[in-house]
Amino acid sequence: MKYDVANRRIWYKGEILNVNDAKINILAPTSQFGLNVFEGIPCYWNEEEKQLYAFRLEDHYDRLLRSAKLIQLDCPYSKVDFKKAFIDVIKANEYDENLSVRQTLFVDGFGSWGSDGPVDMFVAPIPRGRTSAEYNKKGLHVCVTSWRRISDETLSPRIKCGANYINSRVGQREALRNGYDTCLFLNEAGKVSEGPGSCFFIIKDGTVITPQLTDSVLESITRDTVIKIAQSKGYEVVERTIDRTELYTCDEAFLCGSAMEMTPVLSVDKYVIGDGETGMITKDLHMTYLDVVRGKVEEFKNWVTPIY
Ligand SMILES: Cc1ncc(COP(=O)(O)O)c(C=O)c1O
Repeated sequence: MKYDVANRRIWYKGEILNVNDAKINILAPTSQFGLNVFEGIPCYWNEEEKQLYAFRLEDHYDRLLRSAKLIQLDCPYSKVDFKKAFIDVIKANEYDENLSVRQTLFVDGFGSWGSDGPVDMFVAPIPRGRTSAEYNKKGLHVCVTSWRRISDETLSPRIKCGANYINSRVGQREALRNGYDTCLFLNEAGKVSEGPGSCFFIIKDGTVITPQLTDSVLESITRDTVIKIAQSKGYEVVERTIDRTELYTCDEAFLCGSAMEMTPVLSVDKYVIGDGETGMITKDLHMTYLDVVRGKVEEFKNWVTPIY
């Protein structure tokens, strides 16, 4: 039996519950201040093998622990606990479809924004394709938002915490207000950083280019995946600072992330990218990406974890 989204099972503080029965204290620091760190972990259904694969689970857990460390959450769970909860709750829902699994460590209790605990966890599988509109488009019309990306000197974009997404929100809301699908942020130095929930690549003269990890971006797992796929296919990949004007003159561009996968950017600030269609290299990388995440590419098979 499958559970509809409104009645799905979630793992919450050590138990598997109907999502409607998972209650949180309204005064908990996570409710009041967004004091939590989280991962969105993609799982892909492989129809031939009748298997569900989690993608780069270990890397997601490493980042979750780095995020917790950076904002000093006192995490009572190990990576073994993370993985057991993750697999148990997917099985409890009997999912055989693509998922995004939200795994969150949050500060519970009656503390303040300065509390280091008590830290607890929930794991909520979310069937894909039912989240933000920009994640389901074939191509994106993008603006450079007037808001700057948060920086390592103030609130590091390296930390995947709930509160950081308010910066994403203001950029995204501005883009939608002005008729775009989504936005790109410049960092405090005025150089290109990333999208509100995704990393960014351009392609120029056959070279695949993305901002450096020190240009105010999340240490994105998809960004790393795309780099490694591109290198394996023989493309030159360069991590370097990107100027704003390069956005308007590049041959191809795309945003990528666990939720976004790889989505072509067709225009930036109404400057058409290339011929306004999905570029050849973007298409090539995307096709391979879709096979890699389903465990179909031998070279990258160690990135997938079977659930069943
Ligand atoms: C701001 C930001 N950048 C990049 C990404 C992509 O990261 P990942 O590929 O690890 O999902 C995300 C997605 O969570 C994000 O929120």
